[in-house]
Amino acid sequence: MASQQESDDHRALSRRALRQKLEGLQGAGVTHLPKRQNTSAQRMPTADVPTAPPVKSAEAAPIPRHPAAARPPSQLVQLDLVRHEVTACVKCPHLAAARTQTVFGAGNPRARLCFIGEAPGADEDRLGEPFVGRAGQLLDKVIEACTLKRGDVYVLNVLKCRPPENRPPRPDEIANCRGYLERQLAILQPEYICCLGATAAQALLNTDESIGKLRGRFHKFDRATVLCTYHPSYLLRVPSAKRDVWEDMKVLMRAMGVELA
Ligand code: URA
Repeated sequence: MASQQESDDHRALSRRALRQKLEGLQGAGVTHLPKRQNTSAQRMPTADVPTAPPVKSAEAAPIPRHPAAARPPSQLVQLDLVRHEVTACVKCPHLAAARTQTVFGAGNPRARLCFIGEAPGADEDRLGEPFVGRAGQLLDKVIEACTLKRGDVYVLNVLKCRPPENRPPRPDEIANCRGYLERQLAILQPEYICCLGATAAQALLNTDESIGKLRGRFHKFDRATVLCTYHPSYLLRVPSAKRDVWEDMKVLMRAMGVELA
């Protein structure tokens, strides 16, 4: 039979091995582990729990940590963690059941400027990228008029799932998705955010003011400077509003120090 001293040593070694494993995972960018489901079907009876063989203390000597292990996970790793959660999300079961796929966001994660739209449409749902349909083509023109390219900015939506028949997102859907948007922005840390349309502007700024009142002046979200303008889909319906969007973009580009031709 093992002496008390031996079983104490054994427990200390298991704890150390577990700590090293967790530090290794943390160094690789893993910040959360799934909680084991607390169902009796999954819980093992104590007698069946395999015991690790005792490890000689030389084998269990602490491994010197690589300096990289202390660094926070890279921006891409952090974004990927959120992306995986979004992909598996079923907080809105009706949207999850109807979607082809989630649409996380795309672009340059180091961009100074993020564009936030409303929700994926049919094209985005099919291709898994934001703003790839007709509204997206118009957004591309706006970005080009600002002398920028898609690859210079990051584009994302308030909702990551397509609402049926492209109806506007409901408040409960926006609330369910808000955490993902906030985490994306916390990782991306854009200096500037351009909200496209009322849904994005109201969701980000937590207001019910109309887009007509919100546009044309700067707002703040965390450390980012926010400008709101009309949604490209609105411009497809009301082309005369393009002039207003261009005025807004000029204000934004001036603030960013981007020279327009
Ligand atoms: N409209 C949006 O708001 N987002 C898209 O991705 C496409 C259309």
